[in-house]
Amino acid sequence: MEHRPYDIIVYGASGFTGQFAAVEAVRTCKGKKIGLAGRTKAKLQEVVKRIEKELGSDCDSKDIGIVVADNKNEESIREMCRQTKVVVNCVGPFRWYGELVVASCVEMGTNYVDITGEPEFMQTCQIKYHKAAEEKGVHIVSACGFDSIPADMGLEILRERFPGVLTAAESYIHIRSKRANYGTYLTIIHSVQNRNSVKDQHKTIFRQKIPYTGPRLRLRNGGFSNSENRWFIPFLGADPSVVKRTQYYESMVHDRMPVQYFAYFTVPSIFYMICFAIFGVVLFVLTKFSFGIKLLENHPKFFTFGTFCKEGPTRKEIDEGSFKIVFHGKGYKKEPESRTSAGRPDQSMSLKFSGPEAGYIFTSTCVVAAAATILDDNLINKGGVLTPASAFRKTKFVERLEKRNVKIEVMN
Ligand SMILES: NC(=O)c1ccc[n+]([C@@H]2O[C@H](COP(=O)([O-])OP(=O)(O)OC[C@H]3O[C@@H](n4cnc5c(N)ncnc54)[C@H](OP(=O)(O)O)[C@@H]3O)[C@@H](O)[C@H]2O)c1
Repeated sequence: MEHRPYDIIVYGASGFTGQFAAVEAVRTCKGKKIGLAGRTKAKLQEVVKRIEKELGSDCDSKDIGIVVADNKNEESIREMCRQTKVVVNCVGPFRWYGELVVASCVEMGTNYVDITGEPEFMQTCQIKYHKAAEEKGVHIVSACGFDSIPADMGLEILRERFPGVLTAAESYIHIRSKRANYGTYLTIIHSVQNRNSVKDQHKTIFRQKIPYTGPRLRLRNGGFSNSENRWFIPFLGADPSVVKRTQYYESMVHDRMPVQYFAYFTVPSIFYMICFAIFGVVLFVLTKFSFGIKLLENHPKFFTFGTFCKEGPTRKEIDEGSFKIVFHGKGYKKEPESRTSAGRPDQSMSLKFSGPEAGYIFTSTCVVAAAATILDDNLINKGGVLTPASAFRKTKFVERLEKRNVKIEVMN
């Protein structure tokens, strides 16, 4: 890539998550030129002060650039993309603001990573920009935050460490976190409102049947898990859809055996299961009407039993948070002679992927590690709109996470 003024620009650096990403970029990407972008210069200058405060003498704030860019001004977005090698996008909801940034990155030959968990947005980008990104040799990689790094990369690691051939896996998410910011809440409301378009996109993306091996894995409705010692429900976030796109791509393009996968979310008691069910029903019903959406938008605390709030979690709450995802994998000691008529799996392995607070600390760690990986490592694909596991397998991405308090352990 030709010389550009910046290596990494964090777009949306003044947002709740963007500020964490900005600090993380300056902290971990020493020797790289970092820019902070957003629509309000004064807010970005405040972020520079926060970085100085958090990193002290470890940071030379004179080296941090400021770039004013606003989604309402297309040329400012193109100009931002022209100035850097990678854009780290933290401006959401992505269904409103993301596509312009992706299109501009592809046009300018700039790499792109983001923290979205919105399947519709990711799939739109794949359908519209994959070919052009591949031709330009740029990597456009969404879902580089808690959605969906642990699921997508965790499954890839489970596959690499499995003593044989992995063909199916389930994962259980355990979250220790008190509250989350309004930006994520807004994103959830509008993703549920547009849930049907995701299924239509699948017809374009998954043109062929995925050739899974072994007995078909079935999605369970929920209940009590003895292995986790917690109640569980199917996870309705982006992870299953991101993983499915990885499995399809790896199978079609690299002829790797696809892995069947379902994800579950765990809660400590049946009381939480009931709260989730109530929230789910209310969300489903109210997102059908514009007044219902307004109601949801205006009263986050009321509808989520205090989980989401406009002011976001406190620093203490964030520092006390953590997560783990436990994978239980099944497969075969030796590759079955026939993929279509394999018998019952005869091998299993479990893996734990754990880390600090998920939404802000871990998410910012991941998205910055993703940008560094694109800049510094040999990537196995020549470009395209890719999922994290397809883009970052066989790189030092996981090592970067492990240096930042992420642990990956085989359990048996
Ligand atoms: N993957 C994950 O696990 C994960 C974790 C956290 C967040 N997220 C996602 O990240 C997104 C941001 O969440 P958040 O809590 O950080 O939200 P937030 O605090 O509201 O931040 C939103 C950012 O977008 C910027 N923005 C809004 N409209 C803009 C425009 N027209 N032009 C330029 N910038 C604009 C805001 O700029 P101003 O500061 O100028 O208002 C702000 O920097 C959400 O979609 C959320 O779902 C994902």
